[in-house]
Amino acid sequence: MDRDMIAETFAFLLLLSAIDGQILAPNTQANVISRTSGNLLRNLTGTQVYKDTIFTSRLDASAPIRRFYRGFREVYSRLLGETGQRNSGNFLQAHVPPTRAFPCQTEGFRSATPPVSVHQVRPGDVDIIAAVGDSLTTATAANSVALWEVMVENRGVSWSIGGQGTWRTHLTLPNIIKEFNPQLFGYSLSDSYNVHRKAQFNVAENIATTSDMPYNAKKLVRRMKLDPRVNMTHHWKIVTYMIGGNDFCSDVCYQANATMWINEMQEKYLIESLRYLRDNLPRTIVNLVPSPLISLSFSMDNVQTPFSCSLTRPIECSCLFGPSYSKDRKLFRSLERKFVKIMERVSFLGELHTPDFTVVFQPFFQDASVFYRGSKNADMSLMSIDCVHLSQKGHAVSANGLWNNMMEPVGKKSLGFRPLFQQFKCPTPDKPYIFTNYNS
Ligand SMILES: *[C@@H]1O[C@H](CO)[C@@H](O)[C@H](O)[C@H]1NC(C)=O
Ligand SMILES: *[C@@H]1O[C@H](CO)[C@@H](O)[C@H](O)[C@H]1NC(C)=O
Ligand SMILES: *[C@@H]1O[C@H](CO)[C@@H](O)[C@H](O)[C@H]1NC(C)=O
Repeated sequence: MDRDMIAETFAFLLLLSAIDGQILAPNTQANVISRTSGNLLRNLTGTQVYKDTIFTSRLDASAPIRRFYRGFREVYSRLLGETGQRNSGNFLQAHVPPTRAFPCQTEGFRSATPPVSVHQVRPGDVDIIAAVGDSLTTATAANSVALWEVMVENRGVSWSIGGQGTWRTHLTLPNIIKEFNPQLFGYSLSDSYNVHRKAQFNVAENIATTSDMPYNAKKLVRRMKLDPRVNMTHHWKIVTYMIGGNDFCSDVCYQANATMWINEMQEKYLIESLRYLRDNLPRTIVNLVPSPLISLSFSMDNVQTPFSCSLTRPIECSCLFGPSYSKDRKLFRSLERKFVKIMERVSFLGELHTPDFTVVFQPFFQDASVFYRGSKNADMSLMSIDCVHLSQKGHAVSANGLWNNMMEPVGKKSLGFRPLFQQFKCPTPDKPYIFTNYNS
C-alpha cells in the first residue's frame, strides 16, 4: 500500500516531468537488492526484486517517507470527507425503487451443506469475497466531482468488492451475492485506503501492475489468516483479480523491450500470484478479469472530453497520453491485446485447477467503451471526472457485466458494457452453479 501512496504523491509532485516522461524512466534491469540499502531515486522509480523474493515495482521507500505519506493521505481524506456517501449526481446509478424486485429468484441457491467441488458452487454458497488489483478495484475517484478529490478511494462502491448500500443504490458483486447469502463478508464497507479496516479483503493498490500481484496475493492471504471470522477450509471464497491497466498506462513505455516485457515478465508474475492463491486459499474461485482501462481510454478518442481530462490523462496514463510516446500508442495497444490473450491462456493452465480451486477468465471488460453495445451515443457518465477511472455508475455497469459472465458458460460469455439491468443473468434450477471451465 505504502509504495502506491508514495507513487501517487510522486506522480502529482513530478507532474511536469511525468508528462515529459523522462525522469521516471527506471533502469529496466530487475536486480535483487536488500530492502535496507539502495538509492532513494532508484527506490522510488525502479523495478526491483527484493531479497525476500517479493517482487515489487517502484516505491517501496523508507519508513519515514511511508509515514509521511500515510499521514498526508489521512489528512487529505479527512479534509475532503466521505465522497463515497454522496447520493446525487449523474455519476451515480439510478436508484431502483422498492417496488421492483431483485431480478433473480434467490431461494434454492445456497446448498444445505457446503459443496465439496469447486464446480458445484451456487451463488449463495459463497461466504467470503475478496479482490486484488489496482485503482479500478480501489474505486479511486468513483464519486469525485472535483479533480482534487481523485485520490479518495471509494472502496465501498467498487464493482467487484464494494458492499456499501444495496444493489438498489450500488450494484456491486457483493451486493448481488448478499441477496443469495446475507452472511457474506469481506467486502469493503466505505471509503478507505488499503490499511484501513473498512477496506476488508480488498487489498488492491493504486498504480499496481501485474508485477505487484504476487505481493498483493500474499497480503490478501495474510489478512484472511489473521481474521477470526475466516474458516479457510470451510468457507467458499471468490477472489476477483483484475490487472493490467497500469502495465500499459505507466510502465510499458519505460521498458527497453516492451514486447519481451509483456510476453515473458508479466506472464510470469501472473502465474506466480495465481499459484500462490492456489496453494493458500482452498475452496476458491478466482475471477480473472482483463483491465478495461486502455479500451475505455481509446473509446474516448472521438468524444468531446472535459478540459479536466487533458490535465489528468497525461499524468495518470503517461505512456498513452504523454506526448513523448504518441508514436508508440499502436504498439502498446497491440501488446495490450496480446496480454489479454495471455491472461486467457493462463486461466486454462491445468495446474491452476484442483478439486477445490479454479480460475475462470471473465472477459466482459474486453471492448469496454463509453459507448454501450450497439449504441451510437457515448455515455460519459460512466467515467469519473478524470476520464481514466470509472464513476460509481461505471462500477455498477461493470458489476452487472461481471455477474453476467459468472452466470454464462465458458465460451459463451458476453463482452462490453450494457445499460444497467438491460441484461441481468440468473442461475436456474437446471444450471444453478457459478460456471467454471469444467461445468460449462
Ligand atoms: C531504499 O528502500 C529501502 C526500503 O525498501 C530503505 O530501507 C532504504 O533506506 C532506501 N534507500 C534510501 C536511500 O532511501
Ligand atoms: C472450520 O469448519 C469446519 C467444518 O465446519 C470445522 O470442523 C472446524 O472446526 C472449523 N475450524 C475452525 C477453526 O473453526
Ligand atoms: C525484443 O525481444 C524479443 C524477444 O521476446 C526479440 O525477438 C526482439 O528482437 C527484441 N527487440 C529488440 C528491439 O531488441
